[in-house]
Amino acid sequence: MSTVFSGIQPSGTLTLGNYLGALQHFVGMQEEHDSFFCIVDQHAITVPQDKTKLRKNIRSLAALYLASGINPEKSTLFIQSEVPAHAQLAWIMQCVSYIGELERMTQFKDKSAGKSGVSSALLTYPPLMAADILLYQTDIVPVGEDQKQHLELTRNLAERFNQQYNDIFTVPEVQIPKVGARIMSLQDPDKKMSKSDENQKAYISMLDDDKTITKKIKSAVTDSDQEIRFDRDNKPGVANLMSILSLASGKDIASIEKDYSGSGYGTFKEDTAAAVVELLRPIRERHHELMESEELDQILDEGADRAQRASFKTLKKAERALGLGRKR
Ligand code: TYM
Repeated sequence: MSTVFSGIQPSGTLTLGNYLGALQHFVGMQEEHDSFFCIVDQHAITVPQDKTKLRKNIRSLAALYLASGINPEKSTLFIQSEVPAHAQLAWIMQCVSYIGELERMTQFKDKSAGKSGVSSALLTYPPLMAADILLYQTDIVPVGEDQKQHLELTRNLAERFNQQYNDIFTVPEVQIPKVGARIMSLQDPDKKMSKSDENQKAYISMLDDDKTITKKIKSAVTDSDQEIRFDRDNKPGVANLMSILSLASGKDIASIEKDYSGSGYGTFKEDTAAAVVELLRPIRERHHELMESEELDQILDEGADRAQRASFKTLKKAERALGLGRKR
């Protein structure tokens, strides 16, 4: 059975983009693969975090994974900082990374541009991400489009390590969905939807209530003609809403074009809002129940144990290949 690994940062409530680009796909994959899903809290602290909020976000993300359908009997769900091998292998991966290749990461460039006091961890974030993945001998990493470059680097680092030392790591394949890999901002459809956007109307949070979701979709920026056609370059706002409707309703893009031909944006937006409301409502309700339950802690304890066992083996192999510690 092949192994799947993916992670999400607990740096705010997830958006519809996180769900459609990543989380939704994890749920299907756990049926056929040995799956590890991680709350990457160590990645979150590469930028300053309020400790009370971070704690709350970690718990809330665990509840969102479960509410979305991650089944702890089939998948291992755990918190990164509770499994020390991540930070340990990250150090090793930093030792095989070049500063130049880390500086070329677009996420680093975006997050550090024009800022003073940028943490060195923002630069060494990708070797930690590589460690997350390589520790589990991962075959497939499902992610949204924005993580593609980090995945390419992970593959390079794994190959470099394997060549220089010993064939220790499985070189993972990235899996990016055909539709929904880059859900865009509702207010500026040339930018990706992001939970850190200052304008709250730009994103739908997975915990937004029905009314808020509807309002945000109705006020989404489109264009001045009234044609519902999938054209990312010339009609990015409409194309974005079409992707959202397609994923939320299960209808393909071609049938959406056909169904709404000549109908204008009003009905199209209403139906998109209704589909998103139906999609998120049960997740939100289950999330609220889980937040109050002890079940959540039990699942995370078990997840950390399982992840600990699986990751320790790879860490030791890597350390041995490098000559770290004593021969035993
Ligand atoms: P993060 O927390 O920013 O996002 C989690 C997942 O959501 C996807 N995503 C999107 N997909 C479509 N449209 C969007 N607008 C959108 N925004 C986010 C992301 O591509 C991602 O799959 N570095 C990673 C977390 C990470 C990780 C890992 C992922 C750490 N270690 C190991 C995979 C494997 C991140 O910051 O994702």
